[in-house]
Amino acid sequence: MTTFAKKSDIRISGPGIVAVVGAGLIGCSWAIVFARAGWQVIVQDINLATLKGAPDVLATQLKILEQHNLCADPQIILARITYKSDLNETVSEVDYVQECGPEILQVKQDLFSELDAMTSQKTILASSTSGFMASQFSAHLTGRNRVLVAHPVNPPHLVPVVEISPSEWTDPHVTKATAAIMASIDQTPVTLQKEIPGFILNRLQGAMLNEALRLAQGGFATVDDIDKTVRDGLGLRWSFMGPFETIDLNAPGGLADYAKRYGQMYQNMAQEQSQPPNWDEEAMAPLHHARRVELTMDRVARRQYWRDRQLAALAAHKQKQRL
Ligand SMILES: NC(=O)c1ccc[n+]([C@@H]2O[C@H](COP(=O)([O-])OP(=O)(O)OC[C@H]3O[C@@H](n4cnc5c(N)ncnc54)[C@H](O)[C@@H]3O)[C@@H](O)[C@H]2O)c1
Repeated sequence: MTTFAKKSDIRISGPGIVAVVGAGLIGCSWAIVFARAGWQVIVQDINLATLKGAPDVLATQLKILEQHNLCADPQIILARITYKSDLNETVSEVDYVQECGPEILQVKQDLFSELDAMTSQKTILASSTSGFMASQFSAHLTGRNRVLVAHPVNPPHLVPVVEISPSEWTDPHVTKATAAIMASIDQTPVTLQKEIPGFILNRLQGAMLNEALRLAQGGFATVDDIDKTVRDGLGLRWSFMGPFETIDLNAPGGLADYAKRYGQMYQNMAQEQSQPPNWDEEAMAPLHHARRVELTMDRVARRQYWRDRQLAALAAHKQKQRL
């Protein structure tokens, strides 16, 4: 019979030791976030080639940060990071685990079973999952009270928000400690009050993507013009305020006045938006083609590097605004 651990005694003051499990896109970025804030980081992956390539990935990203005055000496940061392939060796002594394995539920369930068995009851076990709820991969665990989601945005070393999503059995101290850790490493924690698939960010992103698909598939606008509308329109405000503050400032009498003036229009649109758009391969092909006209596949990696440099410039700008 499974017996569940009672209450965790989690106290992390100052930089500790973190295990980053999975050295892909997100794992490498988390390693930078923690090491930049002074944590000792152990990066683990079952794929030895990925593990071997990780130091170069980190060095390239740290160079971008350095060029924008967003980090101290990259060599000092890199020296805080070690690499291991054995999971048990990686996690046995750490304060906090940031799981970054593939987005496959069975893999998460198996990984968290291993992590629960291999770590002390004081270790926080957090998943980077984009959409699974903690209850979906922790229900069976003895230490399920110390498991939760800490969902970043790609790449977390340049985009600070982290969604903290506990399950109903996550110890509130664990939730608070995780949010405190995120704030201490210069991320922006937001905490879900109840579990919901996709959390906040991907639900908001999903609403916009679904509508962008409806507009493109319905022949109302081109892919490029929809992208421009966000890039040179909505997105400009969104880099410093959210949708509620936006509408609060868009009518003389604030949010309530905005709702009076435009609420009916949005409500009418919501009626038309109730049908999900088509995400299957055939329906997506023309949209993929439209993107390839703008950017051939062989230029995607270079454009990702460009995106990261743009994000770094924006982060540096936002940092200056706060001074
Ligand atoms: N890519 C994004 O935009 C993004 C954003 C936020 C969150 N996430 C989430 O972060 C997680 C990782 O995503 P990613 O984009 O870095 O994927 P990725 O495919 O780049 O990396 C996954 C890594 O996990 C490794 N791995 C597989 N099984 C493992 C195991 N049993 N133990 C240790 N390592 C294992 C793989 O070798 C690979 O290197 C996913 O849950 C994803 O949903 C991704």
